Amino acid sequence: MLWGSRFDKKFNDKALKFSSSFAVDVLLIEWDIKVSKAHANMLYKIGILSNEENELIQKGLGLILQRFNNGIWNPDTTKFEDIHSAVEEELTNTIGDAGKKLHTARSRNDQVITDVRLWMKSSITILLNNLSEFQNSLLNLAQSNIKTLMPGYTHLQRAQPISLAFHLLAYVEMLERDKMRFQFSFKQADESILGACALAGSTIKLDRKMVAEELGFSSVSRNALDSVSNRDFILDFLNAANIAIMHLSRFSEELIFWTSAEWNFIKLGNEFTTGSSLMPQKQNPDIPELIRGKTGRVYGNYFTLLTIMKSLPLSYNRDLQEDKEGMFDSFNTISDSLIMMSELVKSIEVNKDRYYNEINGSFMLTTDLADYLVIKGVAFREAHNILGRIVKYAAQENKKLNELSIEEYKKFNRIFEDNVYEYLSAETCLENKKTFGSPNPEMVENNIKKWKEKISNILT
Ligand code: ARG
Repeated sequence: MLWGSRFDKKFNDKALKFSSSFAVDVLLIEWDIKVSKAHANMLYKIGILSNEENELIQKGLGLILQRFNNGIWNPDTTKFEDIHSAVEEELTNTIGDAGKKLHTARSRNDQVITDVRLWMKSSITILLNNLSEFQNSLLNLAQSNIKTLMPGYTHLQRAQPISLAFHLLAYVEMLERDKMRFQFSFKQADESILGACALAGSTIKLDRKMVAEELGFSSVSRNALDSVSNRDFILDFLNAANIAIMHLSRFSEELIFWTSAEWNFIKLGNEFTTGSSLMPQKQNPDIPELIRGKTGRVYGNYFTLLTIMKSLPLSYNRDLQEDKEGMFDSFNTISDSLIMMSELVKSIEVNKDRYYNEINGSFMLTTDLADYLVIKGVAFREAHNILGRIVKYAAQENKKLNELSIEEYKKFNRIFEDNVYEYLSAETCLENKKTFGSPNPEMVENNIKKWKEKISNILT
């Protein structure tokens, strides 16, 4: 126990079990050892530790990590409040009295959150890579579907034809914004707070810059009180996770739709679908369903921490120990979901001709016909009105737009000419799009190329 002497009674066993965070923060061991090593090096530099003591501490800490990783050191989780106290006690057991000097001018309040900051920086690096891998999978699928037509929807009503590639590129954009949010939270985490001590720094003149440099932090925090109680950077991380899982959930939902008999647009690889214990014919899209389902826990983790922080007086309060479980969980959930989704996308088979006939000459091209009239000088509102009447007429006649004769068109307006049919074909409807950011195949191809260049630089 780190604080026994002031107390008459040993800490109650049940209370220790209740209050221990060991089972959760044991994940921080690698970072905890790094932080302790940097702290000891600094204590040596400022004359608190002798060279010999520091060397003992460095070796001892290295040995503890090694023994832990090899399963030789199995700390009794019921005996410790957290990984930090377990390592400290083990150090003294391993190297003797020198170990007792390690905690000079350090509190677990600054230690724990320094560990978390390092964990977070490394975890975000992993997530950024997962996001790029997923973008890459989407781009590969987009590449072979630049001209694969599908209905674009608003209000879940068929609106205008687009391509599958264009649809997938929308997700590539979303994922890029996810990266930006994680990069922002990386920057928020990238500050050394070690030396804040319990809440007010120390009378010992610590070299905080040296510690920051050894640990790879790019700056040193300015206010000790804020340093030990700040969890904003975790909230930023959890919020980046919120939005990322929301994107994954939207995509999951679409994949689920597209695999249904009603859509019949794609097939997920057999190796990623499950059967039914009762209905022999079923192939279920469990993976996207689970990703969609996991959105709840990620949102929940954000809300848990936001609630913990509400009304917490400065500075450290034990409530803050509850900050880690959701953070680890959101990381694992996002990382696993991204990896799963990248694999799943690689297995997708597209029914490329699925919508050709349904789009060719269909009402989804009505807006393009309105543009046709506008180019010929008709005011847009007037064009809209004419096309509204044409669609009504065609629906009554049970005809598609390309099944109306030029005479029928001319009845609505003399300005229609034979070239109207060029606007009504599934072959040309995407090519006809002129605006930057539209599903025009040449533009989409260009976009894919640019994204691929950008992402291959990151992934190699
Ligand atoms: N287990 C604690 C946590 O994760 C460590 C800090 C404890 N500090 C204290 N003053 N009891 O927050």
